Amino acid sequence: MNDLGGKVAIVTGASKGIGAAIAKSLARAGARVTVNYASSREGADAVVAAIERNGGQSIAIQGDVSLAADAQRIVTQAITAFGSLDILVNNAAVFDFHAIEQITEAAFHQQFNVNVLGALLMTQSALPYLRRGGSIINVSSAGILTPGPGSTIYAGSKAAIDTMTQTWAAELGPRGIRVNGIRPGATETEGNHRLGTMGDIAMVQMLIDRTPAGRFGQPEDIAPTVVFLASDDAGWVTGEIINVAGGYR
Ligand SMILES: NC(=O)c1ccc[n+]([C@@H]2O[C@H](COP(=O)([O-])OP(=O)(O)OC[C@H]3O[C@@H](n4cnc5c(N)ncnc54)[C@H](OP(=O)(O)O)[C@@H]3O)[C@@H](O)[C@H]2O)c1
Repeated sequence: MNDLGGKVAIVTGASKGIGAAIAKSLARAGARVTVNYASSREGADAVVAAIERNGGQSIAIQGDVSLAADAQRIVTQAITAFGSLDILVNNAAVFDFHAIEQITEAAFHQQFNVNVLGALLMTQSALPYLRRGGSIINVSSAGILTPGPGSTIYAGSKAAIDTMTQTWAAELGPRGIRVNGIRPGATETEGNHRLGTMGDIAMVQMLIDRTPAGRFGQPEDIAPTVVFLASDDAGWVTGEIINVAGGYR
């Protein structure tokens, strides 16, 4: 089940949080994994070390996915290291929440540049190397199922990613490349700690109340669905976006 032996993967934003768990899980299933990071060299090195301790192969590659030159370099360095590419996980994202009146052009561009343009640039860079049987997985958010106040930019960026997932599935299906998405629910990550979400008792309670499973997710709750979507077991699955959210609505 879910054997990724012989496959090669790139996970963007894998120095921490959900991306780190995805990178480790793909490696545990047998893939050789590029751990992309933007600023957290230490975090990326720790993920690579954990993979290697388990007998896997991995490298860390710095790069800002929102810059075309960086996206191309991430892919070419990964190809130089591992020789081929089968799996691209567009996980890197930034999130911040603002009332409509407080939204600045800079905040808009920051989130759309990383969350939307970054996924597009990485996919464009990866396509020349993705073989038949290849798989792209875009990380969206269950937060867009019932978008809350303050989430204009973030939810907008994730709605865009969901539409891109379905568009790419239609466009790349004839080339034998599957494209799917996942929508994590509220998950305890460094990003949520940085934002102060985890310290806001009312916010945490509201998110848990909306989660039938009755708790915050952990990155390890999210990663196995990505492993499945990347594997040949999901060979007849494309254009789908799976909520991985403990039932969050
Ligand atoms: N946590 C949640 O509750 C939740 C819920 C739904 C969806 N999601 C989605 O899940 C994904 C991961 O979220 P998370 O909570 O794990 O985030 P996180 O803890 O904030 O980690 C974000 C990762 O993205 C990387 N990154 C940021 N900007 C980048 C850029 N320009 N280029 C390359 N990498 C960049 C960061 O790298 P550096 O640290 O090296 O800068 C880090 O590795 C995101 O797509 C997010 O929208 C999260």
